[in-house]
Amino acid sequence: MKDEIVFLIDQNKLPFEFSILRSKNYKETCLAIKNMTVRGAGAIGVTAAFALTQAILEKRKNLLEFVIKAKNEIEATRPTAQNLFFATNRVFNAFIKNNIPEDAIIESNKIAKEDEDFCKKISYFGNKLIKKNYRILTHCNAGWLAFVDYGSALSPIYLANKENKNIFVYVDETRPRSQGARLTAWELENENVKHKIIPDNAASYLMANKKVDMIIVGADRIAKNGDVANKIGTLGKAISAKYYNIPFYVAAPSSTIDMNIENGNQIKIEERSQDEVLYQKGLNKDGKIEKILVCSPNSSAINPAFDITKAELITGIITEKGIFKTEDIKNFFDYKA
Ligand code: MRU
Repeated sequence: MKDEIVFLIDQNKLPFEFSILRSKNYKETCLAIKNMTVRGAGAIGVTAAFALTQAILEKRKNLLEFVIKAKNEIEATRPTAQNLFFATNRVFNAFIKNNIPEDAIIESNKIAKEDEDFCKKISYFGNKLIKKNYRILTHCNAGWLAFVDYGSALSPIYLANKENKNIFVYVDETRPRSQGARLTAWELENENVKHKIIPDNAASYLMANKKVDMIIVGADRIAKNGDVANKIGTLGKAISAKYYNIPFYVAAPSSTIDMNIENGNQIKIEERSQDEVLYQKGLNKDGKIEKILVCSPNSSAINPAFDITKAELITGIITEKGIFKTEDIKNFFDYKA
């Protein structure tokens, strides 16, 4: 954020167009989270922090009342994303402590810096798990686009690649919005990591044929018992991985851990528009981004955005503090808003 304007990479246009959205007030920033101009755990959190800061900096008469309303509005945008609540609570508490609006700016910048630092640390710990010539499968996008920098699931992959471990990545396309095919593949291309996009339903086949050495995914919310909410489809990968004895890791900073909930059953799953399933976006022959219907015209669709992977299916959780067994999460993290 600079001069109360929040600058965001427009992820809806990637990989076809790289553009920066300038968001002038908290309403616009709220909309950018809601319509997924910005998405990904850390990126949502930091954007929410700055959105609330924009509201706090507005010169309103009943400022506190206005800020509480704005906070509720921001938190309603993406209900599954723990980083969002983590960030809004921190900024709000920093502001009300001494009633100084500028304290919100300091806190938001702190959250952004932490996000970057934590992801960098995740790269060190996760890289230790990656052996030479490993073929790694990932789902959705948990790279630098999804955070301030580095990413969660992808940051160990980038480090392993920089250390010339000759790794290869299978990128789940991740229907319905194709964050894998559009965003992860684009990031990997930019980082010179060998990869191929696979249809979501090809993963078990590859595992059965001993083509996958490990799986790393990100997380949107982690419960106290180590259950993980992540992009829809994650659960299926975890079940197959367990069956075929393939290590299944989740990478996430502590800001994604929700110590207020005992297990994954308490996580609210966001339902998104059926249009994401029924329509696809791509480049037309004139080089313009176009949306087309790809399903039976009179059918409707259901679109849960996340699923819950039970702790027992997860080999370990890679965090900025190290790699933990799911049952140990509650002993090492204590953040409660
Ligand atoms: O639908 P999205 O793109 O908002 O999905 C959320 C995610 O980015 C993923 O679940 C991701 O794997 C974890 S967040 C880094």
